[in-house]
Amino acid sequence: MRKTLVAGNWKLNASIQDTEKLINGVLAGLDGVSAEVAVCPPFPYLAQAQQLLAGSSVRLGAQNVSDQESGAYTGEVSAAMLKEFGCYYVIVGHSERRSLYAEDDAFVARKFAAARQQGLAPILCVGETLEEREQGVTEKVVARQLDAVIEVEGAAALADGVIAYEPVWAIGTGMTATREQAQEVHAFIRQRIAGHDAAVAEKVQILYGGSVKPDNAAELFAEADIDGGLIGGASLKAEDFLGICSAGR
Ligand code: PGA
Repeated sequence: MRKTLVAGNWKLNASIQDTEKLINGVLAGLDGVSAEVAVCPPFPYLAQAQQLLAGSSVRLGAQNVSDQESGAYTGEVSAAMLKEFGCYYVIVGHSERRSLYAEDDAFVARKFAAARQQGLAPILCVGETLEEREQGVTEKVVARQLDAVIEVEGAAALADGVIAYEPVWAIGTGMTATREQAQEVHAFIRQRIAGHDAAVAEKVQILYGGSVKPDNAAELFAEADIDGGLIGGASLKAEDFLGICSAGR
């Protein structure tokens, strides 16, 4: 049985004060939470978060990583640096990075590889836009995004990370995919991986992301192929985030 993972993606939100309050709030409410829990603050707060989380079961993640190891890449942060600050996870290929910062499938695959090479667990985000859903090409888009990583790293590499299905139209919009819509795509992703390696498909956690809230988390997580959530807005309030964590198994 795959464990539920609930990961908070803080995006471009937080301050030193917020980081302390939010992490302490989460740590104070973990009694009875059986899900795996992770938080992904912006880069400048990783060191602070690392200290606050020391000795706890909550894992630390970053929101982005360079595809390069070191050198003249102004503004970039390497996987080795993230590792040094106690990161366990790193999000790669979030739709906001794909759409706002022009990250294409090949670039995302290189980031996935860079993270894995340093022993970080990449959280690979995939998902279609509203236009793509309406055109009926959801599976095609998700397959392309997934295959780009499989081509570079091989299907077995997916077992070192996590996949997050995030329909772009559901992110930050309050429009959650229905449990059936989400499960359908999750099952498709698992089947596609199984086509390469059944054991990896069975093992890999596939998270749903897109307007997950305390009141819809339980029904989403109850679906056979939904193994948790990547949480944006609702990860910024300890109470809401914990409410989602409590819905996990
Ligand atoms: P949301 O964001 O929960 O605010 O919709 C999810 C995400 O982008 O990871």
